[in-house]
Amino acid sequence: MKYKISTYINGDRPKVLLPDREILKHLGEEGIRKIVSDHYNLVHQSEISHLFPKNAEALEQAKLRSSDFFIQIMGGPTYYKENRGAPMMTRRHAPFKITPEARIVWLICYQEVFKSLELPENLKQSYWDYLDKFSMWMVNTIDEQKYKPFQVNL
Ligand code: HEM
Repeated sequence: MKYKISTYINGDRPKVLLPDREILKHLGEEGIRKIVSDHYNLVHQSEISHLFPKNAEALEQAKLRSSDFFIQIMGGPTYYKENRGAPMMTRRHAPFKITPEARIVWLICYQEVFKSLELPENLKQSYWDYLDKFSMWMVNTIDEQKYKPFQVNL
């Protein structure tokens, strides 16, 4: 699996590079909105669905806000800033209990979307690296029973 999920170490906020701006040029705004929409549809059916809006209208609004954000960071129009203001992503995620395990499920849903995504490999990797690293910043809750940061291979 090329799109590797890095192990989350408690409290770690790794350096993050924004996704390559060529991604937006290749996919267009509609392409980005489709990725975000497909991802929301998957998380909505996953074991972290409780974190996300339940009703269809609220889900559509969430898709809109999130895709506005991705379009903006990839060098597109600043829809997010106009509608929501400064990104402050970690602060906006603070009301939701995001554990390292929830992050993994969230990323697996992106791995699924990436399977059918047509994009040059270097751009796909840049997009993935951003998701993999920045998602660590959103982790704000540790479940001591489940959290196993180190893998020991005996
Ligand atoms: C690269 C990492 C991530 C980015 C860029 C991102 C981006 C966003 C954005 C732009 C929003 C909308 C904020 C607004 O209301 O203005 C949002 C909301 C939200 N995100 Fe994330 N997110 C990331 C990781 C995660 C992870 C790992 C989880 C949980 C496992 C998560 C759960 C949520 C939830 C529950 C909301 C609120 C409901 C919604 O509006 O969808 N996010 N995220």
